[in-house]
Amino acid sequence: MLADRVDLYEKGRWAWGQGLVILAAECWRRLRDEARRVGHRVDLMRSLNALGCVEYELGRFHVAQAVWKRAEALVEAEPSCDPRFRVKVLVNLALGACQMGRFDEADAYVRAARDGCQDLEPSWRVHVEHAASAMWITVRRWDEAEKSTRQALELLAGHDGDPRVAHLQTNLGQICLERGDLAGASAYLEAAREVLERCQGDHPNLGSTYGALAWLHYLLGSLDRAVFYGSEALRVLWPNVLTTHKPEVAVVSELFGSIALDIGDRQTALLDLQRASTYFAQAYRWTDWARVNQLLDDLVRQWNSVAGRVDSAAAIHPELRERLCYFTTLLDLLDSIESLYPDIRQQAELTCRYALALGRALQLSPDDLEALGHAAKLHDIGITSLDPEVVRQRDPVGPVARDRMRAHPLFGEKILSLFPLPELSRDAVRHHHERYDGSGFPDGLAGEDIPLLARIIAVAATYVSVGLKRGHTAAMLELSCRRGRHLDPGLVDLFASIHDPVETPVAAAG
Ligand SMILES: [Fe+2]
Repeated sequence: MLADRVDLYEKGRWAWGQGLVILAAECWRRLRDEARRVGHRVDLMRSLNALGCVEYELGRFHVAQAVWKRAEALVEAEPSCDPRFRVKVLVNLALGACQMGRFDEADAYVRAARDGCQDLEPSWRVHVEHAASAMWITVRRWDEAEKSTRQALELLAGHDGDPRVAHLQTNLGQICLERGDLAGASAYLEAAREVLERCQGDHPNLGSTYGALAWLHYLLGSLDRAVFYGSEALRVLWPNVLTTHKPEVAVVSELFGSIALDIGDRQTALLDLQRASTYFAQAYRWTDWARVNQLLDDLVRQWNSVAGRVDSAAAIHPELRERLCYFTTLLDLLDSIESLYPDIRQQAELTCRYALALGRALQLSPDDLEALGHAAKLHDIGITSLDPEVVRQRDPVGPVARDRMRAHPLFGEKILSLFPLPELSRDAVRHHHERYDGSGFPDGLAGEDIPLLARIIAVAATYVSVGLKRGHTAAMLELSCRRGRHLDPGLVDLFASIHDPVETPVAAAG
């Protein structure tokens, strides 16, 4: 089914471009195995490079780096290797090293990549400088960041409307913000926002643009606009909130913590600033971490002093205040799952992405998609109320353990009912283990009596759970076995059509 119609590498690239990570991984794993079998070095190199991207996407940065290093070793051992491919691997290694806090190593990879594209088309120089721009911003080396950003923009002159230009403008906006040039920041960020909002769906780079706009409005004194853009940033970042986008979430959490402090809501401030501190530490961003910890220290000192308990006069619109608490709470729930069961992270992340892909194929409204995204990511939140020993048993044998496990959708619903989440999300969490034939739990609902969002999550969660362990083909087989018995047959068919459209396009990202 995978290789009959198109080349495995290209099929993987197409799947990757559609966000179908598990299918892409399977194509590239097959290509790798086949290349090893027949001794095809080029296919081995490109499949390893692509598989490194999959690991990176899933937040397994150490594994990604190890896979890219194997690709690099092959590249260096092959004098006739395409120099463009070498640049691609070096840029990936730079990004990986940066994610793991190895900034000197990242610097060396960027320099090697820059040297490698001397005789190549300008688009490769753009690729290198674009990556370098993001990297220097991460480590707060503003002069180098500005140099790389401007070089890339110069090379992209005449490409107005290109999302890469918008991303680079966002970077310049961030540099201006850091230097206190608010007018400059506003011009760059608004230009970037306009371009990215015109793209179909939510462009992934829109998250950092909204995050920077939120800080801009905070610095301009407009708390309402700051909360609005901060919420928009989290909405866009939501599908990758636990893996690749944690640093951007940290930036918004710090902002929300600062706003909560200004309006005298110290409980929310504490939660947001603690999260920002943890996420910055996980991303090795020590300067940001130190700044947030200073805020936390001040907060604790104020808390302990009588004078500090007087609330600030600042205020925000009640609806936005609710929005601030809403995202703080959701992120807190995710943190509690992750701290107890780190392995669930990729599963929750991918279930959310695949559920949203199904939701979009069903043309659900934006509100329903938002409710679906939250429910999909939090569908197993109820397991945090169970004894970890019960949860870790692969197959709970005793009736007590089984009953406990079967109670997790009810615990999940209960937890969510304490927070301002839409009823649709709570219902979806309660019913995500119902079965289409009525044999599921907790209420034994059947067919279309099961809420649509719960039926979508059941399909996505089944696919992801099997797909992460045994790959795409095994996961699709599992879906077809459960079609009509456990899972909604129409949704299984729609899910299959997303993976295997009639006319498979082959050119995409990679
Ligand atoms: Fe579950």
